[in-house]
Amino acid sequence: MTGVPDRPIRTGVVYFVGAGPGAPDLLTVRAARLLEAADLVVFAGSLVPEEAMRGLSPRGRWIDSAGLTREEIVESLARAAEQGQVTVRLASGDPSLFGAMAEMTTALDARGIPWEVVPGVSSVFAAAAALGMELTLPEVSQTVILTRTAGRTPMPPGEDLPSLAAHGSTLVVFLSIDRIGELVSELKRVRPASTPVAVVARASWENERICRGTLETIEETVRKARIMRQALFVVGQVLDPELRKTVRSRLYAADFTHGFREGTISSADPGPPTK
Ligand SMILES: C[S@@+](CC[C@H](N)C(=O)[O-])C[C@H]1O[C@@H](n2cnc3c(N)ncnc32)[C@H](O)[C@@H]1O
Repeated sequence: MTGVPDRPIRTGVVYFVGAGPGAPDLLTVRAARLLEAADLVVFAGSLVPEEAMRGLSPRGRWIDSAGLTREEIVESLARAAEQGQVTVRLASGDPSLFGAMAEMTTALDARGIPWEVVPGVSSVFAAAAALGMELTLPEVSQTVILTRTAGRTPMPPGEDLPSLAAHGSTLVVFLSIDRIGELVSELKRVRPASTPVAVVARASWENERICRGTLETIEETVRKARIMRQALFVVGQVLDPELRKTVRSRLYAADFTHGFREGTISSADPGPPTK
């Protein structure tokens, strides 16, 4: 991309690249350059839109990892790197979230193959953008918990949903929309049924869909919309449209002095920040 300094691309290295949430123009510049140069791209098929992205990688051989075991994925990445190819493991969103990266990097380490991580735009941020919301609002929630419910992967002790949700902070649940009934009933044990919820399916894709409701109503809405995968469940008061209208940050308050601005009280001030 014009104006963005080039960074040398190394051969013999496995790049774990965040593909972003799906829209190709939400790839980072670094990711797009790596795809352009790649000889091999092993991608997470259900969440990376191959059709939309393949054109960015004209010389690359693309392999969908959906049908492969961990050992087969590592083997194909390792072999390509050993042959001096530009080798990319393309993960959805950001590779650091539910990306099964540690087990692959450990196996690469054991073979003495260097690797590097290229961050991506996680689906959590694409979902927030689709909803036009902030995940944090002053004095409503300043904490975001990213979690999932137990599927074949059990949850570690202390990370059960009611314990996490009891904080009252914003909660984003991955990998769980197919268990929405269970999810909602666990949350209702610790949060009021009127708590706002949004579900975003395929955030940033052309067929992105949004359902809004409360803990009371969302299950039926999502079932009617037939959303069964590739969705995030967002719950918390930050979704309350009324609260969003009233909150004011201290940072931009007219009477707030900080390193870059001297505070003054102006008649244009929309009102005192909430206490
Ligand atoms: C294996 S996890 C990978 C998460 C990914 N590393 C990230 O940062 O977004 C897959 C789960 O992420 C969520 N997900 C991934 N892409 C999504 C998208 N575009 N829209 C909504 N949810 C998405 C879904 O909950 C899906 O079940």
